[in-house]
Amino acid sequence: MPSVTPSHRLRVRTRPPFDAGSEPLRIVDLFAGCGGLTLGAAQAAAANERKLEIALAVDFEPLAAEVYSRNFPFAEQVESEPVEAFFDGELGAPITLTEKRTKASAGAIDVLLGGPPCQGHSNLNNHTRRVDDKNALYLRMVRAAEVLRPTVVLIENVPAVRNDRHDGEGVVARATRHLTNLGYEVAEAVVDLDALGVAQSRRRHILLAIAAEGRVLPTSLFESIGSDTRRDLRWAIGDLVDIVSDDPMDRPPQAKGPNRERMQYLLDRNEYDLPNELRPACHQGNHSYKSMYGRLKWDEPAQTITSGFGSIGQGRYMHPERARALTAHEAARIQGFPDYFDFSSCPTRSALATMIGNAVPPALAASLIGAYLSHASASTEDRTERVALPA
Ligand SMILES: C[S@@+](CC[C@H](N)C(=O)[O-])C[C@H]1O[C@@H](n2cnc3c(N)ncnc32)[C@H](O)[C@@H]1O
Repeated sequence: MPSVTPSHRLRVRTRPPFDAGSEPLRIVDLFAGCGGLTLGAAQAAAANERKLEIALAVDFEPLAAEVYSRNFPFAEQVESEPVEAFFDGELGAPITLTEKRTKASAGAIDVLLGGPPCQGHSNLNNHTRRVDDKNALYLRMVRAAEVLRPTVVLIENVPAVRNDRHDGEGVVARATRHLTNLGYEVAEAVVDLDALGVAQSRRRHILLAIAAEGRVLPTSLFESIGSDTRRDLRWAIGDLVDIVSDDPMDRPPQAKGPNRERMQYLLDRNEYDLPNELRPACHQGNHSYKSMYGRLKWDEPAQTITSGFGSIGQGRYMHPERARALTAHEAARIQGFPDYFDFSSCPTRSALATMIGNAVPPALAASLIGAYLSHASASTEDRTERVALPA
């Protein structure tokens, strides 16, 4: 029988040929993780019949780089090194020798993507000591833009990044000022992921910078996204309730005795929030943890997926109809990763939890880069038409 591609976009099992197409869209992804932003750019490129070229992807976690390479085998360079090993100059300073090498091998870049870490990180090493906090990592994206001069820069982070400061100045303000001085139009927004068709309440801060040759204003891109159908949990994972498999992606998390009893309590009474007296003593009383030990609802989006999705003590992660927390497969679907995305080189449930919890839902870059590509080509057509008009 010929294979039929399911119409449900998360159930597609065959990876589209992202490196097919005519005109290339050439990207660099820093702090790339497993590649959520890249996948979004790939989807946008495919929807616009463009061929994705990945000049460079960097993440210092070898497992992340491995999953990335598995999913984007055509990437020219995937490095498990600190980003600072490629971009080591200060903002505004002359391009270093290292940066000259990075630029020479990357070539002309259309889109620079990056989601610098939003929690403090511990694995600092020699490369990272000079710029040694997460706020400085945010500004590495700006330095990379200064070196590579891409047409579009997209920096993703948590909304609270607006409170982060470095050397006495907010990092977002500093990034904006510097990118503006480089000649970019810059805009920022907090984007609701559930308005982009992701079955999850998740809000992310985006800084978007577009060079003059991009012919599009970043504010117009923010204005043109966000009208996708809102999706609920049943849409994302309704078909995965009783999958039996030894694959770490589908193996249900095993809860300890008290948590099993808590889940059974909610199922037996058809309730969604655990009463105070059944919570651990430290969570009782006047607490702000209502969603902890909570049960998810089929007809609503999930709460924000974090690396804690496999434990009901970490948030509202109990399955709507089973006495268990979410599987990695379910969490990946809720993040918006289609089944063709291959996490198989990530060997354990805990490594999977970190990678999937850290990931940026592909819909984010798919919407913004997709909007950029269609605006840019519309403005090219418009110019061509105007040029073609008789005098
Ligand atoms: C929020 S996650 C990025 C998610 C990714 N952008 C996506 O779309 O799925 C941040 C990533 O930055 C990586 N990271 C943190 N500090 C780094 C550094 N100094 N150099 C390279 N990678 C780093 C972490 O390993 C983690 O995978």
